[in-house]
Amino acid sequence: MSNSGSFEINAGTRLCAVLGSPIRHSASPATHNAAFTKLGLNWRYLAFEVDPKNLRAAIDGAKAMNFAGLNLTVPHKLLALKMVDELDTSAKKWGAVNTIKFVQSRKSRVQNSEMRAIGFNTDADAIATSLREDLKMNLRGAKILLLGAGGAGRTAALKLASEKIAELFLVNRTRAKAGEIAHEIKKQFPSVKVFLDFPKAKVDLILNATSLGLKPDDRSPLNEKQFSLKQTRAVYEMIYRPAETKLLKAAKKSGCQTANGLGMLLHQGAKAFEIWTGRRAPLDVMRRQLVQSLKSNA
Ligand code: ATR
Repeated sequence: MSNSGSFEINAGTRLCAVLGSPIRHSASPATHNAAFTKLGLNWRYLAFEVDPKNLRAAIDGAKAMNFAGLNLTVPHKLLALKMVDELDTSAKKWGAVNTIKFVQSRKSRVQNSEMRAIGFNTDADAIATSLREDLKMNLRGAKILLLGAGGAGRTAALKLASEKIAELFLVNRTRAKAGEIAHEIKKQFPSVKVFLDFPKAKVDLILNATSLGLKPDDRSPLNEKQFSLKQTRAVYEMIYRPAETKLLKAAKKSGCQTANGLGMLLHQGAKAFEIWTGRRAPLDVMRRQLVQSLKSNA
């Protein structure tokens, strides 16, 4: 062990990594490495800038080098569906892979046992966990306005529907994308009422899953002439950097309960950690590190 409490890197060090583009500001390495140290594991977590055209080579390379696992972030989560050897039910259900675990398959006839890449999705559950924890949301029977129908919006919409919310108002710049998701929900979760317009009455939650708010000049994703913040109890912003977007600022001013995407980021990471290590994730350590990394990297 080093003075800092983590193991020196040696020939026995297990490796995990996040692959994405851009990846420079990822808070995941600091968060996972703090968790490995806390549990006394001789593991390390790295970040690699990987262009989509090299994703398959990167996954195969990590597998060949006996990595323990990978996280995948923008723009790789859909591409990876076709690049793993097996999909866990979570990845099948939510249609995206954000976590890969490399496991040794049973001895093949050739003496070397082979590694297999199994794809998981830990994003969807993290959304529901964070809504419950950070906003005390009771999802069953809830009425929710969801802004955005990209990758994140789709996962959120399907997860919320699976939690048996009552009504989902799905609004997106490109209406056809919201329409496709609505169609899927009607097939899989027929009891959920889906609308492609702003609500006419109060809702329990507005959830922003668009990327509007990531850049300082971005306008709020909600036009209050179309739907007023006075008409919701709570607002969840999937963006966590900046910690307070224009939408969250306005929501606080309006007296709504608010939360940003930090809890979602924390819980998807914690679940990945548990999938790789088989150990319970030290949530407090991970949360503290995450907050610190986001602050120092703002
Ligand atoms: P992610 O994986 O983070 O969801 P994405 O799939 O690119 O990223 O989705 C981005 C979301 O933000 C989409 O809902 C997108 O709307 P479109 O489907 O119409 O592209 C939304 N978005 C991005 N920029 C926007 C803008 N300037 N105005 C309105 N919506 C925007």
